[in-house]
Amino acid sequence: MNQSATSATQKTSPMSNSPRTVKFLASILAGDPLNLIEAIRIAERAGADMISLDVSDGHFVPTISFGEDVVRRTVESTSLPVEVHLMVSRPDDWIERMDGCGHAQMLFHLEASSRAMGVVNAIRQKGVKPGVALNLETPISAVAPMLPYIDSVCLMGIVPGFAGQKLMDTTYRRVSELRELIDQSGSAVTITVDGGVKAHNAVQLVDAGAHCLVMSSGIYGATDPEASLREIRARL
Ligand code: DX5
Repeated sequence: MNQSATSATQKTSPMSNSPRTVKFLASILAGDPLNLIEAIRIAERAGADMISLDVSDGHFVPTISFGEDVVRRTVESTSLPVEVHLMVSRPDDWIERMDGCGHAQMLFHLEASSRAMGVVNAIRQKGVKPGVALNLETPISAVAPMLPYIDSVCLMGIVPGFAGQKLMDTTYRRVSELRELIDQSGSAVTITVDGGVKAHNAVQLVDAGAHCLVMSSGIYGATDPEASLREIRARL
């Protein structure tokens, strides 16, 4: 069963006074790399709305994580939708490599391409929802021209590549700035925060305007991973 409809948290936006849904993505990067199926099952039992797969190439970021086989097998192994977060230098190559893997959405880093709109179109042509991820130092304004063409913007709360880092304080202001830009544009683009999301900062991120939160060590490093999302939802 797709749990996204049942487990997402309803919250009233302080900006719009209308109900909105906060979605949680479980990034299995901090799960056991030799037991990814268990990481997927933990995400399901915890009530995650989506699985996030961080694909890194050892170039855009220093780490190497998952390739297309893991994406395909993850999609085959769960009823949760799967997001691919490309942390790679040549996103076009990876769009082709992952063609047909069944992922629902794909993010690439704005910093990784000089032809970002071409990458957006290439993802969309594969029947996948395109999104853009922004590193900490990339101005929010850089994404403004792309809002009509993408489904989501992911703001990194950390330097990408590694799970377990602390959320940078500038993230709250960046989320607010992006939310204002999106609301003013009348766009339906959603804001995701990835990196450093924990129980103690989730409320503030949602209050700042985030629609979706990615968590890895907050789930897989928790004493009781399956309780981790329940505790956060209860706070929201
Ligand atoms: C890091 C990844 C994140 C990471 C988050 O570059 O994009 O998804 O797994 O890990 P935590 O939640 O531990 O910061």
